[in-house]
Amino acid sequence: MAKSKLFPDIPNEIERYDPVLDDIVRGRKVVIDMGCGHGDYMIEFAPRHPDTLFIGIELQRKRAHKAAHRLAKRNIENFRMIVASGEDALSRMFPSNSADELHINFPEPWMRERYWKTRILRPAVLIHAARVLKPGGILSFVTDIDIYAAYASETMSRFPFFRNNYDRPYMVNIYEKFPTLFYRKMSLVRPIHYVSYTRNGEMLPAA
Ligand SMILES: C[S@@+](CC[C@H](N)C(=O)[O-])C[C@H]1O[C@@H](n2cnc3c(N)ncnc32)[C@H](O)[C@@H]1O
Repeated sequence: MAKSKLFPDIPNEIERYDPVLDDIVRGRKVVIDMGCGHGDYMIEFAPRHPDTLFIGIELQRKRAHKAAHRLAKRNIENFRMIVASGEDALSRMFPSNSADELHINFPEPWMRERYWKTRILRPAVLIHAARVLKPGGILSFVTDIDIYAAYASETMSRFPFFRNNYDRPYMVNIYEKFPTLFYRKMSLVRPIHYVSYTRNGEMLPAA
């Protein structure tokens, strides 16, 4: 049944706290796009990796709706959409050791320190990310804001669960192109910073 404009039907939506997520992710390669916006990253990569399940997490229902429709219109089926905050989705919906990659592309930087608690990447979220990522899984963070890249790398480096994939806190302009809307906007204005860490060590027990 069609929902109201505020709560439109979203193709392939996983309702918040839906326990079936456990069944959906088990035994599959899983890539999470946290703050997926209009879904460009999944539109680029999901068709190239049909055996991988792409899961978009997006706070704004309208954007999640648009992203899922854009994917569905292209006959892409190997995706799911969750409307929730990244922290909520990771902490309440994903089983331990269930994701191979977690991508955070162009998150809002929340520059003033008193708003850092709003950042999508912060210590409380990294604890959940470390649990959800499989050992050997990748956490990738991309931003046009140099001090946010430095903050992200510094914060991750404090966790014994993560190992930097680069020999410096972050790399700059390493790709000629990157498939997101904000890359297209911001790469015209500023250099793009890439932070990449691998989830170390043993599997963590369920929360
Ligand atoms: C600047 S946009 C970037 C969108 C896309 N990743 C890109 O690169 O084009 C940031 C997105 O993250 C979403 N967002 C912000 N905070 C979030 C959170 N805590 N959890 C999930 N999504 C969030 C916003 O609604 C927005 O769509």
